[in-house]
Amino acid sequence: MCKKVLICSGKGGVGKTTVAANLSLALCAAGYKVIAADCDYTLNNLEIAFNLENTVKYGIADCLSGRVFLGGALYPVAKHLRNNPNGGSLFLLSSHGCPFEKSELSETLSLCSKLADYIIIDSRAGQTEELDTVASIATDAIIVTTPHIAAIRDADKVAATLDRYELDSVSLAVNRVRADHIENSKAPAPSEISSLIRVPLSATLPEDDEINLSATVSPFVKSRSQEAYKMFALLTANGSGEVYQCETARKSGIMSRFKELFN
Ligand SMILES: Nc1ncnc2c1ncn2[C@@H]1O[C@H](COP(=O)(O)OP(=O)(O)OP(=O)(O)O)[C@@H](O)[C@H]1O
Ligand SMILES: [Mg+2]
Repeated sequence: MCKKVLICSGKGGVGKTTVAANLSLALCAAGYKVIAADCDYTLNNLEIAFNLENTVKYGIADCLSGRVFLGGALYPVAKHLRNNPNGGSLFLLSSHGCPFEKSELSETLSLCSKLADYIIIDSRAGQTEELDTVASIATDAIIVTTPHIAAIRDADKVAATLDRYELDSVSLAVNRVRADHIENSKAPAPSEISSLIRVPLSATLPEDDEINLSATVSPFVKSRSQEAYKMFALLTANGSGEVYQCETARKSGIMSRFKELFN
């Protein structure tokens, strides 16, 4: 049965598109059939993450209009992975910058679900109408945040919104984590953020210059995030497993300041 996993956040720029792209690649490398669906038509950066911005001609809105069959709007990502020995594959379904109706998205993703084990849905930041649309279609959701106070508070608000939907799971991915900041009490540890907003942790993703400096996601690059995404994919697929640890011991202090804001 295909899982439709919504990648969302309260605050913009926390790494949803990066997470959607890398998680899709990691699931594909683990042998799953994956469709990465870009549902953020305002920015549609997933095309750029996969280096397909000059290739994509059709998007979600075209699929049911008769302009193209679904297969014509699915673009292979990282062709060497398409027929990898594990049987994994990865295709991009783009919004191509065009708005779509809820019914169009629902029907297109329902067709996609016959072809994939996972549909990873990149979405627009914030408490928008689009969040309601994708949350009502998804089976699971992953809220992305960074360890910054504004991002955490906004993640908390999105978690409350997601409570309204019948999702099989809602979990938290903390992105851009720096062990030195945790050690120096400049930032809370991912486990603390998870307890604070009461959403289980499914990923700790390190601050990574290779991600920051590269506009595209490459499965060839051996970045320090690779192990973190491998564990993230296994946990997403199995529902249990270990979260990557990029944190070490922390000194108390910062959490009391965060807790005050949430009480
Ligand atoms: N772990 C990381 N380490 C370093 N830089 C990162 C990391 N994750 C994301 N970034 C950088 O942060 C920026 C924002 O990432 P991204 O576009 O994925 O965020 P987003 O949440 O999708 O943004 P938007 O809300 O605008 O759609 C990008 O420049 C990206 O390269
Ligand atoms: Mg984005």
